Formats: sequence, C-alpha cells, structure tokens
Amino acid sequence: MQQIAWLASLVLMTLVGLGFAFVAINSGAREEDYGRVVHSAYSTRTKLFWTLVLVFGPVMIYTLRDLPYDAGHARSNSGPVQVVQATAYQWRWELSRDRVAKDQPVEFRVTSADVNHGFGIYDAGMHLVAQTQAMPGYTNIIRHTFRNEGTYRILCLEYCGIAHHNMMAEIKVGGL
Ligand code: CUA
Repeated sequence: MQQIAWLASLVLMTLVGLGFAFVAINSGAREEDYGRVVHSAYSTRTKLFWTLVLVFGPVMIYTLRDLPYDAGHARSNSGPVQVVQATAYQWRWELSRDRVAKDQPVEFRVTSADVNHGFGIYDAGMHLVAQTQAMPGYTNIIRHTFRNEGTYRILCLEYCGIAHHNMMAEIKVGGL
C-alpha cells in the first residue's frame, strides 16, 4: 500500500514538475495574442477540472468504501476482546495486563494522567503496528489483533518532557 502511495506521489510530482517546466519554457513567447492565451487557458482549466473529477472521484469512493474501518476489522476476528487499560504518566506506562493471546482482538483503552503522550506499539523488528494518542481526561480506543507471538514494545510517540525517551513498556503476545 505504501509503495502504491509512493508511486502515485512520484507520478503526480513529475506531472507538476512538467507543468512548471512547460510554463517556464513557454514564458518567452510574449507576442502571442492575449485573447487567444486566455481562451486556451480556460479550455485547459476545464479539461483539468474534469480530469481531476474523473480521477479522484472514483479513488475517493474506493477509499471511503471501508468506512468505518473498525467495523470490517471487528468482523474479521472471532473470540472475545482482550481489554488492556493503558495509562501514561511522566514518564512511564501503566498497563492493566502485560500478556495477551495472539489471533484474538485486543482493545487498548489509552489515556494519560498528566500531559499528552503518544502510544505506539512496536513489534520485535521495531515496526510500528498500531498507535494512538494518550490524552488527559479522554480515552482513545484502538483495536489490534496480534498475529505473531513475541515481545512487543510500547513507546511514547510524542515529546512529553525530559525523560520522554524512557517511556517504554513491554507486552507479551502468546503463551496464554
Ligand atoms: Cu510520553 Cu513522550
């Protein structure tokens, strides 16, 4: 998915670049009749508008189809939800449990006892698998189903003071 997004950005950036190059190259021709230039610009604008509608319309519908994202995710998982209450403090995490089963949805209820923190779950290879914000006075809920056993790490993703880097906790998946 990320690769597709990257390719799409690359193509779009190239198109924008070519557009700028075209304008730069043609900016020398000043003797052209003003009326004709305006007419051609309007016609280009109309074409561009409909191109955008035709390209981004279907893309938008395609990407919005899955909303709400959580519903599809919940359907694809059976078994009871394992609830983990996670509270952030300057500068540590407090988890209501540090071991969950794999292939069973886990619901993280994330909040903070002081300032804003970022709640990020990393796998053994330090890839981010899920994240949300830890905010005082509010509980953010994320659901994640761990497919692999192992030790996952929870790190703070938002600078929250001098010992921000020390906010680390572990959660073990499997062995239940
Ligand atoms: Cu908590 Cu950074």
